[in-house]
Amino acid sequence: MSKVLSGMRPTGRLHLGHYFGALQNWVKFQSECECYYMSADWHALTTDYADTSAVDENTLEMVADWITAGIDPEKSVLFKQSGVFHHSELFLILSMITPLSWLHRCPTYKEQINEIKNRDLSNYGFLGYPILQSADILLYKADIVPVGEDQLSHLELAREIARRFNNFYGDILIEPKEKLTKAARVPGLDGRKMSKSYGNSILLGESDDILRDKVKNMFTDPLKIKKSSAGHPCGCVVFAFHEIFNREYKNREEKCKAGAIGCVSCKKQLMEILSEFMGPFTEKRKDLIADKAYLKKIVETGCRKAAETAHQTMEEIHKAMKF
Ligand code: TRP
Ligand code: SF4
Repeated sequence: MSKVLSGMRPTGRLHLGHYFGALQNWVKFQSECECYYMSADWHALTTDYADTSAVDENTLEMVADWITAGIDPEKSVLFKQSGVFHHSELFLILSMITPLSWLHRCPTYKEQINEIKNRDLSNYGFLGYPILQSADILLYKADIVPVGEDQLSHLELAREIARRFNNFYGDILIEPKEKLTKAARVPGLDGRKMSKSYGNSILLGESDDILRDKVKNMFTDPLKIKKSSAGHPCGCVVFAFHEIFNREYKNREEKCKAGAIGCVSCKKQLMEILSEFMGPFTEKRKDLIADKAYLKKIVETGCRKAAETAHQTMEEIHKAMKF
C-alpha cells in the first residue's frame, strides 16, 4: 500500500484555498493509502520563533479544520511534528550530508528572504527548513506527498537528499513523488490568490454574517455599472465562485453578458449557494472546537502511531550507518 505524508504549518484557521488546493486530495487518499498528516509546528518556529504562544493552540485549530474538511482520525494518522522526536534526529543526520549550495539555491528560500522584511530570517533553522521537511517525509518512507505547487522545489530536494543518503549507506530511504491538486483554483475576494497574508480569504466554517459581508465586498466587473450593462464574467470574482459552486454557471455567464442580471442579485444568489455549502462545515467545526480534550487526544494518539513508524525507519538508519 502506498504511504502518504503531508503537512501544514499551524499558522491559523484554514480557508477555501487550502480546502480546494490540498485538503480535498488529503481526504481522497485516506481510502486508498496509509496516510500521515502532520502539523509542522517546528517549521512554524523558523519564522515565528520570537512568539510561540499561539503555536500549540493553532495545531488544535488546524486539526479541527482538517476533520471538518473530512479527514477521518480513524483512517489517517493526525499528529504534530514536535510530538515525534525522531524528526529532529533525522533532520540532524540529513543536515550532515546536505551541501549548503543545495539550500542556498532553493527558490523558496531566496524568495522569502527577499519578501519577509518585518522579521529577521537570517537564522540557521530557516536555511535548513527544507532539510527538516525532507526528514518529515523520508522518516515515513512516504512515496506520495500531496502538496501545492509552491512546494515542488522542496520535494525535489527531498529526493536528492534521499538519493545521496542511499548512495552512502545503502538503499533505505524512498524517493517521494509530489501529488498536485488539479482542482479549480479559488481566487481571493480581490481576485488575487487566496491567502491569509492578503486578508482576502473565506475561512472554512465561516459564519453566515461574515460570509455575507465578504461576498458583498467581492470584486466584480468594473464596467458593469447597472443591471443592463453588458458584463465580463471572465474577470469577475463573483463569477469565478459561481463556476466552482453553482451548477448553472453557464446560464449565469450568458445573463451577465446580455445585461439580464445585475451584480447585486448575482451576489445574493452566490451568498445563498455558499451559505448552503458552508453550513455543515460551520456546524461541525463549532462542535469540534468546543471539545479541545477530544482534539488533544487525537493528536496524542496520532503522535504515538507516527512514532512507531518513525522508530522503525530510524532503527534501519542506525544499522545502515553502523551506530
Ligand atoms: N512546507 C510545507 C508548507 O509550508 C509544510 C510541510 C512541512 C510539509 N513538512 C512537510 C508538507 C512535509 C509536505 C510534507 O506548506
Ligand atoms: Fe460578476 Fe455577476 Fe456582476 Fe456579471 S453580474 S459582473 S458575473 S457579479
